This record gives sequence, structure tokens and C-alpha cells, in this order.
Amino acid sequence: MSAKMKTDDRMEKIVSLCKRRGYVFPSSEIYGGLISCWDYGPLGAELKRNLKNFWWDTMTARRNDIEGLDAAILMHPQVWHTSGHVEEFNDPMVDCKKCKARFRADKVDESRCPMKPSKTPHECDGELTEVRNFNLMFKTYMGPVEDSSAIIYMRPETAQGIYVNFLNVKNSSRQKIPFGIAQIGKAFRNEITPGNFIFRTREFEQMEMQFFIHPSEDVQWFKYWREQRWEFYKNLGINMEKLRWHEHGPDELAHYAKAAYDIEYEYPFGWQELEGVHNRTDFDLTRHMEATKKDMRYFDERFEEKFVPYIIETSAGCDRTLLTLLVDAYDEIEIKGEQRVFLRLSPRISPIKAAILPLVKKQGMPEFAQKVYQELGRKFKLFYDESGAVGRRYARMDEAGTPFCITVDGQSLEDETMTVRDRDTMEQTRMKVAELQDFLDKKVHG
Ligand code: GAP
Repeated sequence: MSAKMKTDDRMEKIVSLCKRRGYVFPSSEIYGGLISCWDYGPLGAELKRNLKNFWWDTMTARRNDIEGLDAAILMHPQVWHTSGHVEEFNDPMVDCKKCKARFRADKVDESRCPMKPSKTPHECDGELTEVRNFNLMFKTYMGPVEDSSAIIYMRPETAQGIYVNFLNVKNSSRQKIPFGIAQIGKAFRNEITPGNFIFRTREFEQMEMQFFIHPSEDVQWFKYWREQRWEFYKNLGINMEKLRWHEHGPDELAHYAKAAYDIEYEYPFGWQELEGVHNRTDFDLTRHMEATKKDMRYFDERFEEKFVPYIIETSAGCDRTLLTLLVDAYDEIEIKGEQRVFLRLSPRISPIKAAILPLVKKQGMPEFAQKVYQELGRKFKLFYDESGAVGRRYARMDEAGTPFCITVDGQSLEDETMTVRDRDTMEQTRMKVAELQDFLDKKVHG
């Protein structure tokens, strides 16, 4: 990133780029938007899909010890009593008696008074109420009668869908411990203070994996999964100097965890959690076993004993990882007196892999370019653009995160070569169509 760029306005710039280029739009915008809800546009939907595919490939498809799952969002309400979420999934909340604004009691020092944004809520004139616990689960009713017996919850984590299917997956896949179950899906939390764009929202997606192990092997598997998850971000192309580990102290641990580490990223608004790796012990399966009387124990021939498996969980937010990718890729540099924006996304996950650009709209160049577009387009997501000066078209693609621009010029018609411009080095190389396929294949699939 150029030293000239001010970090404090980077989020604003990213939000505006996302709108301009079709990454992320405010939800229901024509009705004035809905706080903390966002829609992914054409490029955002593509980026999200690429990210999820990358996670799925790494965590499931390319491993023979992890199975996939896609459980329902709505679950039996008893699940959330058993898991402890009804009783314990709370944030402490305070209200301002004057302006009625609501804050997380443990984040008052980081919050701003809506009436006097230069002050924190307890520095302004408003008096705060006593701290109350606020349960973060969204409730709704199943069926036509809206009484307490019809209450169900929107899942606040995808993990419970995995635990209640432990026996189903184990029996149908015939996996032996140690093995894992992975899932990507929506989760909902009625956050008191959502914010920072798609960092903390009330509806979001999680990419979670639960690894079932013998209790005596929890330390080694916990270490193994921390290493794997660190490697994942390296392979995603994230600047590793912006990542660090944070170990949870005893007062931070969730009610289910024996040990927990977060991978944190340095966002423009500070270091914050990107992913959690947790040792959940046998807490969840034991609770579900007690509540349902279903035997969740596993007989392990290696140890010649029956036990309730321990679980090592890796839990990443999909939207939060997407924000991390955008923040990490955002760059501005001055070229010939003009401030230019570059989104330096890795070709592996960029929404568009290459743009096909005829240099001019005549002399057979568009026809040639269209042929290349059709041929390469069978394998890669491409963008065809023939409007405006080629420099402008490069600039649009740089901002949209497209790593390569393939230009058809006069020479292309003679020897069937085209120039490939690299977004990050700005170097141009001439290649034939057949070479282009190999080139993109290596860049995109690694
Ligand atoms: N199953 C364990 C679990 O849900 P968590 O630390 O509460 O653990 C895991 O959440 C990840 O989910 C977080 O690291 C974050 O990436 C994402 N996440 C949690 N709450 C979120 C929210 N309100 N908005 C966006 N992402 C969120």
C-alpha cells in the first residue's frame, strides 16, 4: 500500500468501491437500506463463491478424513437449550436514558455517543442504565400459532447442525476417529452493535469444521489445526504480517471451550478476530447425549475403549474473510498525477480472471477478441470490453480486481499472439491462445 494512503478513510473507500464495482450493496437500498444487512453484487457473489470453494476444497474435497454436511438453519428448539445458547449466549447491554441508544456494556469505551460523536457514551451527558444481559439468538414461530410452544431459533452457529448429525455421518460414511465434518452456512446473531461494513452483521455465513478425536490427543490435534488454518490464509494470498494469534484468557473462553485461539487481522479499525480455533472437549456431544439419551460414544480399536469424542473446531466467518481479502488487496498509487485504485486479489479467488480487450473497435480486432473470449471463457470467468481508451479499460479492471488484461492488437491478426498485462507488475508478455490457457490455468489453480 502506498505510504500516502490514509488508513482512517480506507474503510469508506472500500465501501464505495464495493458499491461502484458491484461487490457489495446495502440491503433493500431503494427502501433506505436495512442496518447491518448487505447484498453481494455480481463480483461479490463470484468472489464469495470462489472463497467458499477454496475453503471447501482445502477442508473437505481434498481430504479423505473430512466429510461435508449441509444442515437446516432451523433446528429443534431443545438443541439450543442443550448447547447452552438459550442460557448463556448473551452480551451485556446498557441503554442511554437520554437518547435511548444501545451499547454493549463491555465495549462502551470503544463506542461513540450518537448525539456527541466526539465522546464515549459515559462521557456525554446521558446517564446509562444498569447492565442487562441480552440473548443474541433471533427467535421466530413455527406454524400458525404464535405462542411460547411454537418458538424456534435461527441458528447462531452452524456447529450444532454438525453435532446432532455426528452419528448419522459416522454411520453412513464409515469414517473412523479421528475424522471431521465440515459445513458452510448462514448463521444469525442479533448483535447489539453490528458495524464496520460486513465485519459484524446480524446475518452472516460461517465456514466451520468439527474434528472428532480421542481425548488424549487433543493437544496435538489442536496444534495441527492451528497450523493448518494459518497455512490457509497464506495460500489465500493474505499479507501474513497483518495476521497474528490471540490466545483466549480464562475470562474470554466461551462456555464450551477448554482452550481457544483466534487468528486476528489488522483491519483499518484495529486488530480483530477473523477465525477461532477451539478445543470444545466432549462438552457438546455429552450434553446432546444426556438430553436425547442417544449414545454418542465411540469404540476405538486403537485404545480399546469407548469414549465421548473430543472436538477441535475451526470456525471462520465467510463475510469477514471476504472483507479481509478486500482490505488486504486494496491499494492506491499515483500514476502520472492521477490517484489510481488497485484491488490486488489473488488470481485464485478473483471474480474475473482476465479481461479480453480489442485495442480498437475495427480492423477485425473485435471479431478476433470475441473468438478468444468464447474459447477461453469455457474454462475461466472473463470480461469482454471494447469501449473507451485501452488505458481506461485497464484502470477499470485494476479497480475490479482482475489480475490480467489480454489485448488483441494489429499483430494478433498476423501471428495470433496477444499481450497479457499483469495487474501487479504491469508487465506485458506476448502469448498465443494455447499458451494463454496454460498460463491462466497455472495462475488460477496454482
Ligand atoms: N462455532 C463457534 C463460533 O461460532 P465464534 O467465535 O462466535 O465461534 C466464529 O464465531 C467466527 O464467525 C468468527 O471468528 C467470525 O469470523 C464469524 N462471526 C461471528 N459473529 C459474526 C458476526 N456478527 N458477523 C460476521 N461474522 C461473524
